[in-house]
Amino acid sequence: MCGIIGYIGPKSVAQVLIEGLKKLEYRGYDSAGIAVDDENEIKVRRVKGKISDLEESLAKSPLQGSYGLGHTRWATHGRPSEENAHPHRDCTGSLVVVHNGIIENYLPLKKKLKDEGHSFQTETDTEVIAHLIEKYFQGSLEEATQRAVQELEGAYAIAAFSTQDAPKIVATKVGPPAVVGLGENEYFVSSDINPLLSHTQRMVFLEDGEIAVIEPEGVRFSDFKGSSLEKRVDYLTWTPLMIEKEGFKHFMLKEIFEQPQVVRDTITGRVSLDSGEMCLDEIGISAEFLKKIKKTVIIACGTSYHAGLVGKYFIETLADIPVDIEYASEYRYRDFILDRETLVLVISQSGETADVLAALRAVKKRGAVPLAICNVKNSSIAREAEGLLYTHAGPEIGVAATKTFSDQMAALALIALHLAQLKEKVDSETNFSLIEDLHRIPYRMEKILSQAESIEKLARRFISFSHFLYLGRWVNYPIALEGALKLKEISYIHAEGYPGGEMKHGPIALIDEKIPTMVIIPRDRVYEKMMSNISEIKTRLGYILAIAFEDDKEIQDKVDKVISIPSTNPLFTPFLTTIPVQLFAYYIAAMRGADVDQPRNLAKSVTVE
Ligand code: F6R
Repeated sequence: MCGIIGYIGPKSVAQVLIEGLKKLEYRGYDSAGIAVDDENEIKVRRVKGKISDLEESLAKSPLQGSYGLGHTRWATHGRPSEENAHPHRDCTGSLVVVHNGIIENYLPLKKKLKDEGHSFQTETDTEVIAHLIEKYFQGSLEEATQRAVQELEGAYAIAAFSTQDAPKIVATKVGPPAVVGLGENEYFVSSDINPLLSHTQRMVFLEDGEIAVIEPEGVRFSDFKGSSLEKRVDYLTWTPLMIEKEGFKHFMLKEIFEQPQVVRDTITGRVSLDSGEMCLDEIGISAEFLKKIKKTVIIACGTSYHAGLVGKYFIETLADIPVDIEYASEYRYRDFILDRETLVLVISQSGETADVLAALRAVKKRGAVPLAICNVKNSSIAREAEGLLYTHAGPEIGVAATKTFSDQMAALALIALHLAQLKEKVDSETNFSLIEDLHRIPYRMEKILSQAESIEKLARRFISFSHFLYLGRWVNYPIALEGALKLKEISYIHAEGYPGGEMKHGPIALIDEKIPTMVIIPRDRVYEKMMSNISEIKTRLGYILAIAFEDDKEIQDKVDKVISIPSTNPLFTPFLTTIPVQLFAYYIAAMRGADVDQPRNLAKSVTVE
């Protein structure tokens, strides 16, 4: 949902901003712009389109400056256009602002500012921030920003500079993330750590209501009242190489192939193959509390919700605890009931999804002790949750989540085993066998990835279909949902995921030769039921692709095509069935020429409601 970057230092400012924006582009990509201070004159360049268009424009006519700001946009207020692209200026043209988030009261503010004589150039909510800072400016950008933010309602990460109080960048946030990078005689502000990794690993994460004043000599921090703050410096271990494609055509493909390793990384050290014990003290939620819980509520959005749905099956099956799974965007507005014996799990790759963050805050208000599963270190959700289990997937750049999905399932399997042990729901033999199965998952994932070429060949046949159906049951029902989501979000083919048993209640009416169905059918407790679903579809001339165990001979002549996966404990099959649905969606989208890593209308972290 928009990316912001600011730089002050000796390097080429435009170059640093462009390189930074490329690493933030996954957050939004309908328009982009930079502003630099060139000897006390602000030079702005904005384009409708991608960072490459901005780069082209700058190559034709370069901008020089000693510090500056950049922005990549995901439109909320005002269509994508050059005028609505950030940075935005005040009336004098001596101040610029970039913003990530939504100013909810921008219409009354705009009216008031207009009545006071300010003139507006854009349809955006952001422009009110520039005019508000202008209104309160009396020589100190920091003080004017402090006063301006008092009037803002909504969510914002803002960075601004003014030629009348220079050289200086002021940044602040309420809601969306902002991180300050501390280099050698150079300083940065950014929406996330990705643009900073090639310059420094020393970062300071801003909390809501904090202001950073970035100058050539260093960075100062204060709160909205102007009191100075001492902030902790974090050393990030992610490396710049982690955010390169490394020979893969798209980040998504690279990230699909990283799955065995990231699952390994997430499991390693947290469960012992020797003793069969879990080592999850790091989560920060006491074993005494977990032993007593009677219920679990899982809250998430999108793909993380699908991982949560898999987690429901893990926890119910292994730990014998009832689990409710909720969309954060619904839950936050519900009159939900929570008691002290409920474990709340919030799942978010980015740790910044606005609805998940709001739901987390709502459950904390009701006295719950939420445990978060996050991938991004020091993200807002990671910081605000009471308990925390990080997935070790590294940065995920493709907008469609893949490796973080598998990693979230791995984290949920660990939590389910932990609860099962604490509640004494598994005997030692079963426990060892589950742990062994879990450790073997990455090897089995590798085996499926080695068949990528044949999945690519298969996908070629389907590139011109307009509709697709995905069916799964029990623990693979969430994978049917995830498969459909992957296909629609990156290839723009309409796809629906259904539990197989629901077919008869409506969707079967859709079946004909024009709608292929992907059936996920490992040998598990619903295998025979899925077989019946298959014959119902075949009777109606539907084409069927099945994902099934490699030793399943029975399926071969019941369907049109089979993608084989190695046999494993049925409960853990989602780790394996996920890979073919991801690869299938990826190849179809890539062959259709879609922008796989940056699908239209989407952004990686949804920091607005
Ligand atoms: C789909 C996808 C989204 C995210 C959702 C939640 O491929 O990536 O559906 O899963 O926006 O994001 P996080 O996990 O960052 O809260």
